[in-house]
Amino acid sequence: MQGWTVGEAEMPILGFGTWPMKGPTCREAVEIALECGYRHVDTAQMYENEREVGQAIANSSVDRADIFVVSKIRKGNCRPAAVRETVRESHDRLDVGTIDLMLIHSPNPRVPIPDTIGAMNELQDEGLVEHIGVSNFSVEQLRAAMDASETPIVTNQVAYHPFRDQSDLLEFCIDEDVVLTAYSPLAKGDVIGTESLERIGDRYGKTAAQVAIRWLIQQENVVAIPKASSRRHIEENTEVFDFELTDTEMAEIFELSGGLRERLRRLLRI
Ligand SMILES: NC(=O)c1ccc[n+]([C@@H]2O[C@H](COP(=O)([O-])OP(=O)(O)OC[C@H]3O[C@@H](n4cnc5c(N)ncnc54)[C@H](OP(=O)(O)O)[C@@H]3O)[C@@H](O)[C@H]2O)c1
Repeated sequence: MQGWTVGEAEMPILGFGTWPMKGPTCREAVEIALECGYRHVDTAQMYENEREVGQAIANSSVDRADIFVVSKIRKGNCRPAAVRETVRESHDRLDVGTIDLMLIHSPNPRVPIPDTIGAMNELQDEGLVEHIGVSNFSVEQLRAAMDASETPIVTNQVAYHPFRDQSDLLEFCIDEDVVLTAYSPLAKGDVIGTESLERIGDRYGKTAAQVAIRWLIQQENVVAIPKASSRRHIEENTEVFDFELTDTEMAEIFELSGGLRERLRRLLRI
């Protein structure tokens, strides 16, 4: 699979989402994904599948060093002591050595962001975690995390797909050199059957899912992590590097969420 990396941590631009798969279903899907060329796998403490993700990586013939492993600290584990204890547990369950990227899964209003970030920085010093980031953070929360951290906040993982405008956050991420990781890039499957995506896809022999993924990864600083459980879908979602959407097609897809109007408004300062 052709791919490329973006940002401080050199994240592969296409990742494999693993929620809500568990047990052997998850292990087998990640094995297939690695076989099909994915080199970035997304898991979380909350998904209860870190062990299976680690097993799939161990079973695969792909070098561990070539795989970018992302996990997330559960919202309820954001206090410093819980960060230290539970990230160690994630590290043991995954059993892949240093975790490439550990995220705060969601902001916890009861724990100051600097407290969680401070504990994550300590785990980086200890070598349990290479990079850190956040998920479901607003621009203000992301700024707070960046200000608190001794190391770059490499990504904010948020819901982003053709029906969801993220112009504000993406503009901030581009300015600050933060990767926006798009979760639910297929709108949990809802992009399938969308007339404009299918029509655009027909021009290239691609499906609506492939057009949605291509639209995301063709944007500056955006990485997409589609989840799929069948070999057919897993493979299909990697076949997004052999075509390019035109500016008009990109704009038409932005329009599905009102994102184009927002971009023009900013450009024209109206
Ligand atoms: N940070 C967070 O709070 C957060 C929240 C949600 C998700 N995530 C992460 O993001 C990942 C992806 O998001 P998601 O699972 O919500 O949604 P998604 O990737 O947008 O959609 C997954 C759905 O699309 C279907 N699908 C996949 N490829 C397809 C294709 N080529 N054609 C037709 N249908 C296809 C899948 O079906 P099959 O399984 O049958 O193939 C599944 O039902 C998750 O797995 C997780 O790792 C993070």
